[in-house]
Amino acid sequence: MAKLNLWDTHAHLDDVQFDKDRDELIPQLGETLAGIINPAVDLESCEKIMRLTEQYPFIYAAVGWHPENLKGIPHDFEDKIAHWAQNPKVVAVGEIGLDYYWLENEPPEVQKKILLKQLDLCKQLNLPFIFHDREAHGDTMEIFQKEITGVRGVFHCYSGSAEMAKELVKLGWYVSFSGSLTFKNAVKTVEAAAVVPLDRLLIETDCPYLAPHPHRGERNDSSLMHFTAE
Ligand code: NI
Repeated sequence: MAKLNLWDTHAHLDDVQFDKDRDELIPQLGETLAGIINPAVDLESCEKIMRLTEQYPFIYAAVGWHPENLKGIPHDFEDKIAHWAQNPKVVAVGEIGLDYYWLENEPPEVQKKILLKQLDLCKQLNLPFIFHDREAHGDTMEIFQKEITGVRGVFHCYSGSAEMAKELVKLGWYVSFSGSLTFKNAVKTVEAAAVVPLDRLLIETDCPYLAPHPHRGERNDSSLMHFTAE
């Protein structure tokens, strides 16, 4: 496949689903894409991704704690993020956010407290964030309209309404769409993508999840991103 001037802005290449073929797969991805941002979810993944950025010039990192991975977060997580962020290949804090879908996640109050600390780090380090919101639209909008200003980032794997997408653009955010944009039932998501200005619109795989049509249900990787781009 010819080289595409595309970035995969959200790929979890450190995921265990790539353990068997990561070393063969990643060099191939570098042949076809301009760059890949790999967001972390916890301590182990931050460390793993920092090694990947050393190994591959086209891989960049986001460091942070995902809302599903807050149990056992180290007490010095802010120092750790600040330390990794000294590396110029760290381009964002992420993946951070709120996830009220899984009942085993930490309660909303705990999630919000850690989120605000990670957003504060974005300010201190002058880095954007990569945001995950699942079933937490109300609290997400409230935090960004009332509690914290002066930070910018991307709402990853957007599946909300067109109205909320407009609101995010107004707040200075980028909005990123994954392979779920290509699913047959994705009417609302397509409507939302249509209202996001092109200079605020990003695409991603969120691999190994959310493979685009016609590969829906398979393990996803960055080589399938052109389906979403189309
Ligand atoms: Ni993700």
